[in-house]
Amino acid sequence: MNNKIAVMASGKGSNLQVILSAIQAGECAAKVEVVICNKADAGALQIAKDAAVPHVFYVNPKEYKNREMYDEACAAIIKKADCSLIVLAGYMRILSASFIQSFPNQILNIHPSLLPSFKGADAVGDALRAGVKISGCTVHYVTEELDSGKILTQACVPVLEGDDWYSLHARIQEQEHKIYPQVVHQLVI
Ligand code: GAR
Repeated sequence: MNNKIAVMASGKGSNLQVILSAIQAGECAAKVEVVICNKADAGALQIAKDAAVPHVFYVNPKEYKNREMYDEACAAIIKKADCSLIVLAGYMRILSASFIQSFPNQILNIHPSLLPSFKGADAVGDALRAGVKISGCTVHYVTEELDSGKILTQACVPVLEGDDWYSLHARIQEQEHKIYPQVVHQLVI
């Protein structure tokens, strides 16, 4: 296994940023070779360009007939660049079964809850609505069943009186930013 990784992101890209910063600081032995975004306005695209990531792509879902064809295009980019790990960093698209099968135990995700609680698209909102007093984040392998692959690490945070989605998410993200670069490092060494 080499140390080249592909990061897939849809949003502001703070997890991508902390991985790049950890690499820069010599704390993470990975090399971000590819960044793929499914949103043209994803902050992650600019972060990747600023960090001179060798292959940065906005892949427009509208240009593909279906999910499988979209994912095949992404897989081709990742394979061509010879990446051995795919790091989902706020990638808000469901991956097709064929994509997941082509990268067994090679796809990581970070999820803003203590899995198996609060799977799905709004883990932070769901935790608030459930009234839990502790939440957190989970790094896990991606399998065909959503948010259900083997858990690699977790970190917890308190849910405080008066928290809203933003305050809780910010507290969770502080922990995400600590654990994700560490797990990536562990997997590439
Ligand atoms: C993170 O909080 C991550 O846990 C979440 O999206 C955010 C992306 O933030 N992922 C999911 O909800 C996946 N189901 P970022 O763009 O700043 O890295």
